[in-house]
Amino acid sequence: MGLLVLLPFFAIAIGLVSRFDRDPYSMVFLTWPLQFVCRGFFVFVPLNSKKFFIYLCPMGQKKLIRFAQIKAFPHVFEYPENMAGQWHAFFKNNHPIVLELACGRGEYTVGMAGLYPDKNFIGVDVKGNRMYIGAKKTMDAGLSNAAFLRTQIEMLGQYFAPGEVNDIWITFPDPQLRTSKAKKRLTHPRFLRLYKSILAPGGCIHLKTDSPDLYRFSLLVADMYGLTVHDKSDDIYARPNIAPELHIKTHYESLDIAGSNRIHYLQLSLPGQIADKDEELYKILRETEQSGSSVVI
Ligand SMILES: C[S@@+](CC[C@H](N)C(=O)[O-])C[C@H]1O[C@@H](n2cnc3c(N)ncnc32)[C@H](O)[C@@H]1O
Repeated sequence: MGLLVLLPFFAIAIGLVSRFDRDPYSMVFLTWPLQFVCRGFFVFVPLNSKKFFIYLCPMGQKKLIRFAQIKAFPHVFEYPENMAGQWHAFFKNNHPIVLELACGRGEYTVGMAGLYPDKNFIGVDVKGNRMYIGAKKTMDAGLSNAAFLRTQIEMLGQYFAPGEVNDIWITFPDPQLRTSKAKKRLTHPRFLRLYKSILAPGGCIHLKTDSPDLYRFSLLVADMYGLTVHDKSDDIYARPNIAPELHIKTHYESLDIAGSNRIHYLQLSLPGQIADKDEELYKILRETEQSGSSVVI
């Protein structure tokens, strides 16, 4: 019985740890501790049945319904097999393919699919619950040029053939501020090599972020690894006449977690070869962190 009393606390601890690991950027939400408490309480009351979770946990129920519905969406692929090289066949055209990485609710996938009917858009994220929102919107809007891929971005190479992707957007990714987590930044050379393996020649990478640190880090990487910077701005909305897609606002953009009050934008393309200077990069980051300043270009 004593163990059963402790179970809700274990649930809260496990929930917090997994959140920290997967999405530290989101930890700012003050509502989350309450959600964990509710979840822990409802899920682990001693009835010993999985259905209990479904019926008594309001958050879990919503998620489970979404997970079930998303499986029936024809344009949502969850860890699919044999999709590399098959995306044009799926879209039934030869239009360029544009990815939105870390798409969350897929505002860019939905927005750009509406703006550019002669291109295909695929939102990529690991969280099906968030992706459901964008997937439902594209279905409701009857957009046949949008799809979603649920997977880890690290596994992109399994889902796209070399040259199958024409452009990549990275929208408000977790900035992973600690140097020890720098490898998880989506503009780290580790990811650039992955993008290189699926991008068509001349393909561009677009980064939109509220994080000045991630912006400066990406510029440092561009400089060190010989990327071409086609466009850069540390305050994109201050510029008159920006492209229509740059006006699309995402959920995280509206949260302004970095508190910078500015939206940063970069458009980059990759060099023929991405050098192995990762140790050198790590050294610079570590020295910068130790000196207490931020990366300055
Ligand atoms: C800060 S949110 C931004 C979401 C959305 N782009 C927006 O602006 O509202 C970062 C997203 O990246 C996703 N993510 C982080 N690391 C990932 C990875 N390695 N693979 C797939 N998705 C990842 C998270 O699930 C989360 O939805």
